[in-house]
Amino acid sequence: MRAIMIVTGAMALTLAAAVTHAADGEEVYRSGSMPPCSSCHDTGAAGAPKVGDAASWGDSIDADVATLVQSVKDGKGIMPAYEGKNSEEELTAAVNWMLEQSKE
Ligand code: HEC
Repeated sequence: MRAIMIVTGAMALTLAAAVTHAADGEEVYRSGSMPPCSSCHDTGAAGAPKVGDAASWGDSIDADVATLVQSVKDGKGIMPAYEGKNSEEELTAAVNWMLEQSKE
């Protein structure tokens, strides 16, 4: 009985960690930044790489995550600079989430 409870507890912790990680990136992407990343990257507005469409990313789909996060901090094209609006951790989570959704 005790062993079962320990195993169940460990599973719950693992699950909670996985869910928290996934939720963070998506949350920043959808509503955790201003303007929300989703306002351009859901549709690919104004040439933005579209979430779920690897081809629209061009070479950036294979770029280093830190390089992509730097573009978001500095701004690129019509994308505004997010430096100071969101933490590095939040932006990294959002970019990782976007890549996960976009890579086949
Ligand atoms: C106003 C529209 C807009 C918003 C809002 C926006 N982006 Fe972008 N984003 C773009 C456009 C357009 C590009 C392509 C820029 C270019 O290559 O000229 C881009 C490029 C990118 C890239 C690729 C950068 C590279 O170096 O190739 C990433 C990653 C990215 N955006 C993530 C984000 C994240 C994360 C957010 C929210 C924190 C966000 N974007 C918000 C329009 C937007």
